[in-house]
Amino acid sequence: MDFTRLGFVALLCVCAHAASPPNFLVLFADDLGFGDLGCYGHPSSLSPNLDRLAAGGLRFTDFYCTSPLCSPSRASLLTGRYQTRSGIYPGVLYPGSVGGLPLNETTIAEVLKPLGYATAAVGKWHLGVGPNGTFLPTRQGFDEYLGIPYSHDMGPCHNLTCFPPDVKCFGMCDVGTVLVPLMHNEDIKEQPVNFLDLERAYSDFSASFIASASKRKQPFFLYYPSHHTHYPQYAGPGAAGKTSRGPFGDSLLEFDNTVGKLLATLEESGVINNTLVFFTADNGPSLMRMSRGGNAGALRCGKGTTYEGGMREPAIAFWPGTITPGVTRELASSLDILPTIARLAGARVPQVALDGFDMTEILTNQGKSKREAIMFYPSDPSEQLGLFALRLEKYKAHFYTRGSTHSSTTPDKECSAFSVLNFHDPPLLFDLEADPSERYPLVPGGETDVPALLERIKKVKEQFEASMSFGESEIGKGSDPQLEPCCSPECSQKPHCCQC
Ligand SMILES: *[C@@H]1O[C@H](CO)[C@@H](O)[C@H](O)[C@H]1NC(C)=O
Ligand SMILES: *[C@@H]1O[C@H](CO)[C@@H](O)[C@H](O)[C@H]1NC(C)=O
Ligand SMILES: *[C@@H]1O[C@H](CO)[C@@H](O)[C@H](O)[C@H]1NC(C)=O
Repeated sequence: MDFTRLGFVALLCVCAHAASPPNFLVLFADDLGFGDLGCYGHPSSLSPNLDRLAAGGLRFTDFYCTSPLCSPSRASLLTGRYQTRSGIYPGVLYPGSVGGLPLNETTIAEVLKPLGYATAAVGKWHLGVGPNGTFLPTRQGFDEYLGIPYSHDMGPCHNLTCFPPDVKCFGMCDVGTVLVPLMHNEDIKEQPVNFLDLERAYSDFSASFIASASKRKQPFFLYYPSHHTHYPQYAGPGAAGKTSRGPFGDSLLEFDNTVGKLLATLEESGVINNTLVFFTADNGPSLMRMSRGGNAGALRCGKGTTYEGGMREPAIAFWPGTITPGVTRELASSLDILPTIARLAGARVPQVALDGFDMTEILTNQGKSKREAIMFYPSDPSEQLGLFALRLEKYKAHFYTRGSTHSSTTPDKECSAFSVLNFHDPPLLFDLEADPSERYPLVPGGETDVPALLERIKKVKEQFEASMSFGESEIGKGSDPQLEPCCSPECSQKPHCCQC
């Protein structure tokens, strides 16, 4: 019975490939927690289109990103390699950063280009701009790019924190840098960007990219890392004030509206049955924003930490006719997206040390994961400290724990910035199936043979760390205000004069 179904699905896939290679749409939300979507149990979020993807696709319960911060998490998704290899550490890139994702790293777009794919990135890049746009998406295999090249609080965005205008402002953005630009390919299209119109610009651009590639019968890859639901949470006219959850709920709804528009475009373009849509998020919720930030659901802490709330994320794979709707408890990671896309497209994987595993069996056959472990690096990984935590099957061992500013304000003191680096010997051990909230450490003498488990974990850790070679830190190359994107490069009185 099982074998018949397996053979049938395999046959379907082969036929589909022979007809035309599949399209890929990767949706990547920002600072969105495990508990933020309706389909992951949030009681007041409005995310009808993401919920629709989950109902008609495969929803992951045990999916992880590779870093509790934006830039490194993006680097891993696009390359299938830990940020430690590509040098996207410590912390994140800034508007004037000298470094960026090294050009000799191979992105998903570059994996697909040789097969004739049309490729586009739309949204928040955050993998560097650099001198003369050296690190923009157009230099990493994307034919086209529309977006803001880093986080939207990396510039004076004060007006967005004063919504509605008659209430008091609730926070600040960076004021000493240029106004946030909207870039098209390598040119500045607007500076400052019109934030209230940004989501509309993204969804129009994306829909037109999908429609025109489909019309040409060209397979496509669209990567949409959204600025939502990052701070400052806000929405344009289509979603502002439309949810009962406040600014976070509105920003999520605005993103969700785009998901709906893209699904409709796939349908109208006749490619919905030949497109893998994959949704996940870059890191856990920014709990420091309190009720305006996200929600990690049952998971402990959030952004900036290596507790589950910092790195376990919602993830949904949707492909009508190929992916059977359901829920999977298999272990998977954003690292696995590149090898999976390569396999489905019939592309060669880059000949480098890859950290991802092909998830095709999980997606198309409700099969087992090839992955047995998840590695947790902190926001500032170092060779000296190594991994902060490691999950092996259902068990997680913390070697170090530390709170983070991003997760401060929660009642759990371990999440806050006041909780400094804590070394655990023996490691702090949790059974994530019995105790997903990491509240009750396993102790010797219980049901689990703790010494034997620790021995196995230690072996996996040693083997992994022996295989890890840290690339030169790109973020350590520092910042130069002259490199901040400026639409009138010769103007005087920077950064304020950069307005066009
Ligand atoms: C990219 O180049 C740097 C510097 O030469 C090198 O250290 C690194 O290993 C290269 N990375 C890849 C993926 O080839
Ligand atoms: C950018 O390119 C221009 C023209 O090619 C060149 O004159 C300039 O030196 C470059 N700037 C940097 C920072 O590399
Ligand atoms: C996709 O497949 C479904 C089920 O076979 C079919 O009803 C629908 O018309 C197909 N859609 C497109 C756009 O081909």
